[in-house]
Amino acid sequence: MRLNPRGIGEVVVSSRPYEEYLAMFGLTEADVLSGPVLDCPGGAGGFAAGVRTRGGTVVSADPVYAQDAPAIVGAARAGLERGLAYLERNRDSYVWTWFRDVEDLVARRREGLEAFAADFRGADARHVAASLPHLPFAEGAFRLALSGYLLFTYPDHFDLAWHRDALDELTRVAGEVRVYPLIDTAYERYPALDELRRGLDARGHPSEVRRVEYAFQRGADEVLVVAARG
Ligand SMILES: C[S@@+](CC[C@H](N)C(=O)[O-])C[C@H]1O[C@@H](n2cnc3c(N)ncnc32)[C@H](O)[C@@H]1O
Repeated sequence: MRLNPRGIGEVVVSSRPYEEYLAMFGLTEADVLSGPVLDCPGGAGGFAAGVRTRGGTVVSADPVYAQDAPAIVGAARAGLERGLAYLERNRDSYVWTWFRDVEDLVARRREGLEAFAADFRGADARHVAASLPHLPFAEGAFRLALSGYLLFTYPDHFDLAWHRDALDELTRVAGEVRVYPLIDTAYERYPALDELRRGLDARGHPSEVRRVEYAFQRGADEVLVVAARG
């Protein structure tokens, strides 16, 4: 870890609710209910609980699941406080179309955290303590893998080789991989995105960048969609 990483700093444990996840990855409900989904990193959000409630199958993977529920909930609360302070210092970098205002943002993050807390029973087959780029899942185990706010988001913590290995690992375990956002927490597009995409293509995984309706951080309106078994 660097002493003064750019953007928000250390990796945040966040708690987005189910609906926000669908929007940021450009997915419909049918997309996430039609086969096993991997959410890596799952964080302390409500996506998995939302999928399960609706009858779908999902596994969340995140190193934070090695901790107990109070520790994870505490980390997510601290992460929300840090996020709000960062937002306050960078107000011009946010658009208020998805969220009405700060109160709405806080309410929806709390909603995600409550859904997580009700669903989490410690590390088990549904919440797997694991870290990219090494996942304990069989090849093609999932129809779809979602990776939000880790790749591209923290370039000071994870170098280019890590990103390549993480994408290779996600494409190994899932038929399609979606990564969001494509900018870091200092609001800059990941500079080696095209290089990574060329590498994926050369290894048989064509990808595209798609526009999504969801936007919160200015410039975070695109998702990377990788055909893992192209
Ligand atoms: C900002 S949260 C994102 C959570 C969720 N995907 C979302 O979009 O709200 C980042 C998460 O990445 C997890 N994390 C950190 N290093 C990781 C790694 N090497 N592999 C997988 N997850 C990691 C952290 O524990 C944290 O929960």
